[in-house]
Amino acid sequence: EEIEKGGYDHFMLKEIYEQPRAILDTYRGRLRASQGLIKMAGIDQNLEKFMNANRIIIVACGTSWHAGLVAEYIFEDLARIPVEVEYASEFRYRNPVITDKDILIAISQSGETADTLAAIKLAKEKGAFVFGVCNVVGSSIARETDAGAYTHAGPEIGVASTKAFTTQITVLTLLALKLAKEKGVFSESRFHEFLTELETIPAKVEKVLESNALIEIIADVYKDSTNCLYLGRGYNFPVALEGALKLKEISYIHAEGYPAAEMKHGPIALIDDQMPVFVIATKKGHYEKVVSNIQEIKSRKGKIIAIVTEGDTQVTELADHVVEVPETLESLSPLLNTIPLQLLSYHIAVMRGCNVDQPRNLAKSVTVE
Ligand code: G6P
Repeated sequence: EEIEKGGYDHFMLKEIYEQPRAILDTYRGRLRASQGLIKMAGIDQNLEKFMNANRIIIVACGTSWHAGLVAEYIFEDLARIPVEVEYASEFRYRNPVITDKDILIAISQSGETADTLAAIKLAKEKGAFVFGVCNVVGSSIARETDAGAYTHAGPEIGVASTKAFTTQITVLTLLALKLAKEKGVFSESRFHEFLTELETIPAKVEKVLESNALIEIIADVYKDSTNCLYLGRGYNFPVALEGALKLKEISYIHAEGYPAAEMKHGPIALIDDQMPVFVIATKKGHYEKVVSNIQEIKSRKGKIIAIVTEGDTQVTELADHVVEVPETLESLSPLLNTIPLQLLSYHIAVMRGCNVDQPRNLAKSVTVE
């Protein structure tokens, strides 16, 4: 096992550090930026289905569900296709309206999650075309779906999902970009801009990982907290949810993710000088609005830890701590903004003496209901 960890203390840390490579492996071979092409066999062979779809329904559980939420923003914003995202466990039992004009996308790292598998079977019975996004090759979900695209993240051993999440977002981004181009929503130049930026992401993730020592210092300040709040807007609202989930899973600290603007409808009542609030406040996408949310937290003496774009000054002046990430397109920003939150949870869990790779009561894949 020590050899498999490749010199890292835990699988989770190894897998966090594998992300630049995993993201590259996921788009390499599919992305031909120079030719202005994305090749994905599962789509190319079923392009008509995607072009004629009324809507996309995404089903998943846990972290994969968060990737689905990011995908909702991507598909609607870039490809202009209506999307609904559902917990597989809810979807399968609520007698959903599904037609043969719907496409169901099931996202699953393991490809074995019982609820997701049941949701697929239901959608197929009702005539929907089912597309899988799995990491494990030959898994039950990969076999049950009509077509699909693998994330090439490599084996994920840590129970808390990290590289599976960012590679799921990568695959779904490729899919959305491809459809945006095919539908004529994207001009050649806009398409090219996206592909070129996507190719910079592995190096930018590498850059974010260089903040590890700083994040460890921040983790030490907040490791004894009993509650934490995570806020983000737009594309980064699901990132806030995922940040909170990571902390809960491995450090057993209660954490909640919330859309920043919803804070005033509830969580703001919890804010005092004991409450750390992690805010995704990168430049593109509602920056000024997030700044005013941060001011609201500050005036209630909450502790502010913000993820900001390199060179930021406005949030940096207000926050107690900041972690900088490189600038990118808003729709690609979840790929960078997730990383500091993964590292933060990791360090807090280690400092609290928790079993990082195998947290209590959790399983890597939930094959029973
Ligand atoms: C379990 C794991 C999570 C994972 C979820 C969905 O709860 O602990 O990390 O996100 O199942 O798993 P899947 O394999 O379907 O992505």
